Amino acid sequence: EQCRVVDQILSEFRLEKTELEDVMWRLQREMDRGLRSETHKEASVKMLPTYVCSTPEGSEVGDFLALDLGGTNFRVMLVKVGEDEETGWKLETKHQMYSIPEDAMTGTAEMLFDYIAECISDFLAKHQLKHKKLPLGFTFSFPVRHEDIDKGILLNWTKGFKASGAEGNNVVGLLRDAIKRRGDFEMDVVAMVNDTVATMISCYYENRNCEVGMIVGTGCNACYMEEMSMVELVEGDEGRMCVNTEWGAFGDNGELEEYRLEYDRKVDETSLNPGRQLFEKIISGKYMGELVRLVLLKLVNEDLLFHGEASEKLRTRGSFETRFVSQIESDSGDRKQIYNVLTMLGLMPSELDCDIVRLACERVSTRSAHMCGAGLAGIINRMRERRCQEALEITVGVDGSVYKLHPSFQEKFHAVVRELTPGCDITFIHSEEGSGRGAALVSAVACKMAASR
Ligand code: BG6
Ligand code: GLC
Repeated sequence: EQCRVVDQILSEFRLEKTELEDVMWRLQREMDRGLRSETHKEASVKMLPTYVCSTPEGSEVGDFLALDLGGTNFRVMLVKVGEDEETGWKLETKHQMYSIPEDAMTGTAEMLFDYIAECISDFLAKHQLKHKKLPLGFTFSFPVRHEDIDKGILLNWTKGFKASGAEGNNVVGLLRDAIKRRGDFEMDVVAMVNDTVATMISCYYENRNCEVGMIVGTGCNACYMEEMSMVELVEGDEGRMCVNTEWGAFGDNGELEEYRLEYDRKVDETSLNPGRQLFEKIISGKYMGELVRLVLLKLVNEDLLFHGEASEKLRTRGSFETRFVSQIESDSGDRKQIYNVLTMLGLMPSELDCDIVRLACERVSTRSAHMCGAGLAGIINRMRERRCQEALEITVGVDGSVYKLHPSFQEKFHAVVRELTPGCDITFIHSEEGSGRGAALVSAVACKMAASR
């Protein structure tokens, strides 16, 4: 009887194929609205032009500095772009990770960018590069409305960031000002890209079919190459431009209401950005652990788990980290991993408790993989239709902690994407050092274009 009730509660997370198709169509409709000049302002999915185009004019070679802000870690990298006879490009990187203190994330924009400049300065000193004025590519993983490849305003923060005085301002300007304020080095900021774009470009380097980039990490988002004629906000009809969909905000106009559960609503209410990024909150790593925690509390309250008693820890918001979900689902069957996590949270689980917790994790992460799969299928089907191709062969470059570290996310995600995209032949590749290499490659092209103007 207990198992039946548990199953009933968790079954809410199941999504039928017809429901996933419905999600996919709704997303496609919002994408379309986001691209059109009459409707783009109201669309939940912003479809931001990136000024990264399909007509590269070749690229410069040399040293580039790359910054990566917005994922789990802030990184500064040095990327050597060279010519290679076979692939055209040769890349070598050195990088360093810096953790961003909480107060820099949620203080003022000046504090945040001063901290970034301090990290760059530290990195340059370590590599004896302070005297050089290097071109810099900035991977900035938030919604930016670009005016050009090196200019764009931050529309709104997402994930854990909230620094005041940045929204509505040119992000490259904020970085340049901070470098000026320090005054101990110079940089030539030549390009700013989203992490999805950097990921796509870094994979394009290996596979010329790579025209989609996706991140499933702290946040969740995708970009793809759209026909220029469809990108109404930018003049010109030739070739393709990469569009940053910012699909994390899908649902913010109510498009996902039937699919959102009580746990989704709670996660949203207690987040830094209530009412926003509702698709992302169903999928990404910033919220997955918390969703599981809320489900477990529900089961405790119904007297179905831990003898109806939760520990102090389990009752604390944020205590159930997303990496625990991966750890629990990686358990080999002896329940050791599950037991370890749960005792760390101050619980004394029975074997049945362990099994129920695992099931809860599986239901939450499977829904995440399926929803995300519906999203990607929406993009790929759109590409196939626009290109009027019977069979579309396409490669997707992917990065992010959930995609990389969760034991079964990939498999479930790939299966759903393939099921929803008949007539498409999809290859997935992992981006390695995506942001650094991607930002450097975009910068190398931008330098060449600036030189030829
Ligand atoms: C990294 C990329 O590997 O993945 C970043 O370099 C990206 O640019 C990140 O933001 C996303 O994953 P996570 O899990 O760190 O948010
Ligand atoms: C959030 C950001 C988006 C980014 C994604 C993955 O959704 O808004 O720009 O690409 O996280 O990091």
